[in-house]
Amino acid sequence: MGLLLGDEAPNFEADTTEGRIKFHDYIDGHWAVLFSHPKNFTPVCTTELGYTAKLKPEFEKRDVKVLGLSVDPIEEHKAWVDDIEETQGTALNFPLIADPDKTVANLYSMIHPKADNTLTVRSVFVIGPDKKVKLKIEYPASTGRNFDEVLRVIDSLQLTAKHQVATPVNWTDGDDVIIVPALSNDDAKKKFPDGWNEVKPYLRIVKQPKS
Ligand code: BEZ
Repeated sequence: MGLLLGDEAPNFEADTTEGRIKFHDYIDGHWAVLFSHPKNFTPVCTTELGYTAKLKPEFEKRDVKVLGLSVDPIEEHKAWVDDIEETQGTALNFPLIADPDKTVANLYSMIHPKADNTLTVRSVFVIGPDKKVKLKIEYPASTGRNFDEVLRVIDSLQLTAKHQVATPVNWTDGDDVIIVPALSNDDAKKKFPDGWNEVKPYLRIVKQPKS
């Protein structure tokens, strides 16, 4: 079953393309995205790392530290980084963890033996400033992830954390949101003095609060 939402993200120490890190110290007090790559020098991973590097300003705006992981040694990461810059037009600008003994991959259940015994699947973990796992997505190795979707979920998570609102189906930034069921009408009146549209007592729609 592996890690569940709400569990503490396991700590580890590892070599990365930006030096050795202690994970909890590195992410301390920030949001984080940790995502795994099945193998170095593979085409889908190369495109994902280039695209994620291009999104760096978007992650920074949201106070998110991004870390990739691949179960290859650090020397190979350094060579692959050159290819990523050459083919994707963007230099890697966040740490790529080297995990040759699969310590981190095992801690985060990134290897699914019935899919592949040695390579990781494409896992994505979003971790909150409290170091708890807020989101976990797993893709097969052959499917590149949608990092715009990862940003969309982070926006939703941050709205919930700050304003006690949830986001409806296919929500994107700026759309109306939903007052979380745990907030009573009395408390909602204090948070949303301009009121809301009560479609049902459990479905209270409100303009997206300003960040
Ligand atoms: C890739 O990154 O292109 C890839 C890796 C493992 C299996 C299939 C594709």
